Amino acid sequence: MIKYPIGIFISGRGSNLNSIIKSCKEVEFPAEIKVVFSNNINAPGIIIAKENNLEVITLDSDKFKSTEEYDEKIIKLLKPYNLKLICLAGYMKILSKKLIDHFPNKILNIHPSLLPKYKGLNTHRRVLENNEIKTGCTVHYVNQEMDGGEIILQREVKISAEDTESSISKKVLKEEHIIYSEAIKLVLTK
Ligand code: GRF
Repeated sequence: MIKYPIGIFISGRGSNLNSIIKSCKEVEFPAEIKVVFSNNINAPGIIIAKENNLEVITLDSDKFKSTEEYDEKIIKLLKPYNLKLICLAGYMKILSKKLIDHFPNKILNIHPSLLPKYKGLNTHRRVLENNEIKTGCTVHYVNQEMDGGEIILQREVKISAEDTESSISKKVLKEEHIIYSEAIKLVLTK
């Protein structure tokens, strides 16, 4: 099984990073994490990456004049890794056109809703407010429209009368941890 080089972008907790790390340890999984990138120097996910002996790059965006300049620097830093895929996993910064165009069809994102419904933030709160009976998560390609790229995989989660924002978040996150690896495998082996 070929192990393609992938990079994971994070900004926070890193639970999706953790699930992808686990998958990459499986012999039959077609990816190896070559680098973890964080825009947040204090992201707890960095500790997870380091505990797993992964290379970590952090870059504070405050030191750059614009997102374009910031992303240009990212492109330079990532060049040596020859990445086949970049997986955004709780990466909270909008990507510039430059970065997206540099990695055509190579950037994936995971979003905690059944896209195209509930793009953006606070998805579970809005789902509850609208009395939805189901929600879920989506892995999609990244294009210039936020949470708007082609859908790769989705998983539904039922909502019951007792559910709260926090209980929905837990249920959805559990599915995220399954479908992100499935989507990576799909994309790399198609
Ligand atoms: C997840 O809910 C993901 O869908 C969203 O941000 C959250 C990241 O969580 N994009 P984690 O950092 O992977 O734990």
